[in-house]
Amino acid sequence: MKHRTVLAGCGSMGNRWMEYALGRDDIEMVALVDIFSENAQAMNERHGLQLPVYSSVAEAIEETGAELLLDTSIPDAHASNAIAAMQRGASVMMEKPMAVTMADALRLIEVSKQTSRFCAVMQNRRYTKEIRSLKLDLDAGVIGAPGFVTANFFLGPRFGGFREAMEHPLILDMAIHTFDAARYLIGANPISVYCHEFNPEGSWYMGNASAICVFEFSNGAVFSYNGSWSALGHDTSWEGEWRIQGSKGSAIWDGNSPAVYQATSEEADANVDSLIPSKGVIHWQGAERREACLNEMLAALQSGKRSETDIRDNIHSVAMMLGAIESAKHQRKVMLSELFV
Ligand SMILES: NC(=O)c1ccc[n+]([C@@H]2O[C@H](COP(=O)([O-])OP(=O)(O)OC[C@H]3O[C@@H](n4cnc5c(N)ncnc54)[C@H](O)[C@@H]3O)[C@@H](O)[C@H]2O)c1
Repeated sequence: MKHRTVLAGCGSMGNRWMEYALGRDDIEMVALVDIFSENAQAMNERHGLQLPVYSSVAEAIEETGAELLLDTSIPDAHASNAIAAMQRGASVMMEKPMAVTMADALRLIEVSKQTSRFCAVMQNRRYTKEIRSLKLDLDAGVIGAPGFVTANFFLGPRFGGFREAMEHPLILDMAIHTFDAARYLIGANPISVYCHEFNPEGSWYMGNASAICVFEFSNGAVFSYNGSWSALGHDTSWEGEWRIQGSKGSAIWDGNSPAVYQATSEEADANVDSLIPSKGVIHWQGAERREACLNEMLAALQSGKRSETDIRDNIHSVAMMLGAIESAKHQRKVMLSELFV
């Protein structure tokens, strides 16, 4: 079956999604949407296409009868584009974040339920062979139960464009990847956050591009995140540098190579002398990152199952992001249940 598909947001990410879509024989592109028609025309030219161009998702879906929206527009537009598509009968796969307010995120879920439309989010950083393999090792108990998890993220990219004008560029546009990875690795959902957000001397962002966050999880684990998007020197990987302290040992993961462990074989034996060092083995084969996440979303759509990154699950990553902003704004610990009302 071919999905008649509209792509909204014809910028740099739109280009990557288009390359993916054109390589699939189960996707038929039928229209482009962008608020700047020249961006959509440039997309047509880049790929040798002659797709009709619209300025709104609603119009594009109504006129083409498309069944699928791929949304790679800016964060502010994701929720309204997805709602317009689902209300017109189309399923949605969208870039992160699914919404920039909790009210919009909850509304998205409500519309997805009412219309029985599929709606899932790109979380490509869940799909590297290293993180999938680390997760399998954690689930197999290599370090016991993870209780204290830390991630450091320090990079200094110069994007220009919308990110440099955003109020919370790091938390809203990037940290959601690391937060989502923490949920994935810990295997539980967060219940509270305390965040200090700031913009140190030398930052070229208008909004706060650095943050320290402490999350408590429902299983008792604590996750601490240190991040900066205006860090010059000693870059971490884009996946972040992780330390996971478990009940019988620790994992260190630099985000690029397989994790390394120091752990005892039996919890009862746990002491410094019984620690055995080991290197993680890659258990994951095949596509990674964006391609893997799009493959998973399409397979879920076609089988009628819920995607791993379905909005009903992903809202917990959004809650980490929005809860962190709320905490920073009021300088207090925020219980994430406060956001789900
Ligand atoms: N998953 C990842 O690793 C990753 C990496 C980069 C960007 N992204 C996400 O992809 C999205 C797009 O980022 P980008 O770097 O391609 O930005 P971009 O600025 O290059 O492109 C965004 C495009 O959306 C268009 N647009 C704006 N409002 C719109 C609307 N209401 N409807 C349709 N189109 C609209 C803009 O005109 C522009 O052409 C963002 O949500 C960003 O967070 C994700």
